[in-house]
Order: sequence, then C-alpha cells, then structure tokens
Amino acid sequence: MRDYLLTTALLYLAFSLFPINAFSQNAPPTVVAGIPVNYDEALVGSYTLPDPLTFQNGNKVTDAASWLTKRKPEIIRLYEENQFGKVPSALTDISFNVFDKGTLVFNGTAIRKQVTIYFTKDTSIHKTELLIYLPAKATKPSPLLLNLSFSANSNVVDDDGIKPGMMWSPDGKRIPAPKSNFGKLNIEQFIKEGIGIATLCYSDIEPDFKNGINFGIRNLYLKEGATQPEPNEWGAIASWAWGLSRAMDYLETDKNIDSKRIAVTGASRLGKTVLWAGANDARFAMVIASISGEGGAALSRRNYGETIKHITDTSRYHYQFAADYHNFSDRVNELPVDGHMLISLIAPRPLLLQTGNSDLWSDPKGEFLAAVAAEPVYNLFGLKGPGTTTMPASGDQSLLKNQLGYYMHEGGHSVLPEDWKIFIEYMKKYLL
Ligand code: GCU
Repeated sequence: MRDYLLTTALLYLAFSLFPINAFSQNAPPTVVAGIPVNYDEALVGSYTLPDPLTFQNGNKVTDAASWLTKRKPEIIRLYEENQFGKVPSALTDISFNVFDKGTLVFNGTAIRKQVTIYFTKDTSIHKTELLIYLPAKATKPSPLLLNLSFSANSNVVDDDGIKPGMMWSPDGKRIPAPKSNFGKLNIEQFIKEGIGIATLCYSDIEPDFKNGINFGIRNLYLKEGATQPEPNEWGAIASWAWGLSRAMDYLETDKNIDSKRIAVTGASRLGKTVLWAGANDARFAMVIASISGEGGAALSRRNYGETIKHITDTSRYHYQFAADYHNFSDRVNELPVDGHMLISLIAPRPLLLQTGNSDLWSDPKGEFLAAVAAEPVYNLFGLKGPGTTTMPASGDQSLLKNQLGYYMHEGGHSVLPEDWKIFIEYMKKYLL
C-alpha cells in the first residue's frame, strides 16, 4: 500500500509538475523526441501566413459583421478539422450541486462557494469541482477570473474548508490527490480589487496522459467499438476547453457573479486550452493565455522552439490534439490556420498573451509575431493590437495598452507573482 501511494504521488508530481517546470530551469532542450530543436533566428526559414481576413473562396472580409458571422465560424471549423478536433454532439445532461453555498473566509473578506459540476446523468464519475471566492463587500454581482489549474482545488488555496481533491490514477481509478504546493493562487489579491476568482482542475475532465481516453469524458463519446476518437475529433485540449464552458454554464446561473465580465486564464497546455475555449465560447469576456507556445498563440510556421512535429509525436502530446494535426508535422505550410488566427478568434474581446524571455521552447517571439498578424482583425472593430512590429524587451509593459496585449516577463516557462499583478491591472482596465 505504501509503495502504491508513493508511486501514485510520484506519478502525480510527474503529471502536474513536469508540464510547467520541464524546461523552465534549464537550458532549452536541443533534441526532443529524437527531433532537433532550432533556436537560431537565421534558420527559422521563410513562410507566408494564411490571411485571417480572406475567406477560403478568396473573397475579402471587409467588415466586423461578416467576420463574426462568416469568417470566424469558417476558421473555427478549420481548427476543429485540423488541430483541436470537433466535440461530438450530444454532450448534455449537465447539472450542478452547490454544496457550499457561501462561507465567509479570509477574515470575512471573501465568500467561498463550492460546486460540483456533473457532466453526465450518472453522477459517480464524470464531474469536476468548481471552487469560487467572491469579494464579501460586493454590493453587486462581481466580475471574475476563471482559472484552469494543473492542481486539485485543495492544493491551490490554503483554506481548510476546501473539499479534498481527487485525481485519476494511471489505471483509471479516482484516488485522493496527494498534497502539493504546485499552482498556488493568491486569492486575496483579487478579492481586495473587487474581483472574484474561481478555479477547477483540468484533469477532472480528462486525465492528462496518453491512455486518458480510456477514462475521461472523451471515452463516453467514442464510436461503437472504437478506442480512439475519429481523426478529426477532440483531443484532450478540446475536452478541457469544453469543461471550461461547463464551468461557465454554472457561473451564468450564480446571481453573485457578473457573467458578462468573466475572464479565463491558464498556462502552457492550459494556455492553449483557454485560447480554444475563448475562441469557441464568446461568453468569456476576456482571455489571459500564459506561455501557450506551440499549438497555442505561437506561429507554427516559424521553425523555432517546439514544432508540430515535436508536440504531436506519439511519445509526447499526440493525444492532446485531433489526430489529424500530426499530418502537418512535415508540411506546416499547408496547415490552413496558424497562431495568429487562434488569437483573432477572440476579437473583439480583450486578450492578453504572457510569455517569458528565456522560455525559448515556447517561442515568445512567435507569439508576438502572431499578435502582430492578428491585429488587422482587431482593427476591423476599431481596436488595436500591439501597434508595432518591434518585439518588446522583457518587463516592458507598453504593449498592455490595447485590447490585444502582450507581455514577456524576465524568466522562463511560468506565471510569476508579478504576472498576476499585470493580469489584475489588465482586467481592471478592460473588464471592470
Ligand atoms: C511541454 C509541451 C508544451 C506545453 C508544456 C506545458 O513543454 O511541449 O507544448 O505547453 O509542456 O504544458 O507545460
């Protein structure tokens, strides 16, 4: 038993710590999955990005209405078909159990609520726990930041009243999540600004490992006899994004929350996830995507840091995407979308991209160039993007002044305490 617990704890740490920390402390890796990684700007190669403002039939998008009603849905379909995968229809039967209806915490400054969101009629397996803190002094519904976390809620906040978190074991059992300090949130910094914060753990929705398909929500929607989704059906990232929308389904019902002012945030693979969630679900009024890198905001066509070939290698994160994404490993220039188009799907809502200057694996410059290339879509709405083609230095906050913001911290693949401060300022400016 002791060995089992130890193995479980180690696996948990591997699944939860590895993603964020893997390449942060050390020099960027030069070979991953046997594939060399380029960090030389001279070897990036030339590329032409698909134009977000040109329909597939060659016509131009000239106004915001045709962007929203025609071109945006076209691009979403391209992402579904080629990168994140389509969510099978028939996902219904959502229900909520608000088992903590409002407990005063943190010296009476915050109200804690806890909600179990059931994804299916059978309430035993497919569910997630939503932990919410709202400013106690609020006299009207509070704006809120929804955080998608690598860690169980009980590890994210130091509050004894939180329902103990569960996780999937590698053999598909629901077991208690071991204690960890990973992904801690400082709740009070939000509360004192009058902003609520809610968090949920991504792996409740679908476990983040190769055979997670055997246990998570995607398993329920496999075609009869199939062990994998169709090649253009959802990978794990699309399932996590789907889960965020289910959290939003609850938040919309809560009278103490201003559902028109909800921002969503996540880091790394969860940065990719929040971009896709925001693209699909316009109820998210703002997106803050940290270090989303390849398959997120970074340009795949730039051969710098991680590439589609690295990320979709079957030894790595093939399961996080539609299987068809892998087909573009050696023909990235044929991919009908790229990072700038994922960004453009958030327009006209505010979007903040946060990167780190030594996180070369995630290609912070590729994210900046994607924001530059997405700017014409924001312009359609009379809004601005970076407004420059010069990459800002680390710590430079000058690109936070527009609805399409970009900020690169001094440091690696992480979200630093100073970044959270910037997120709050950005929320205050564009959401409050
Ligand atoms: C790996 C992966 C990245 C991903 C990251 C994470 O580094 O290659 O694409 O963003 O894990 O989720 O931490």
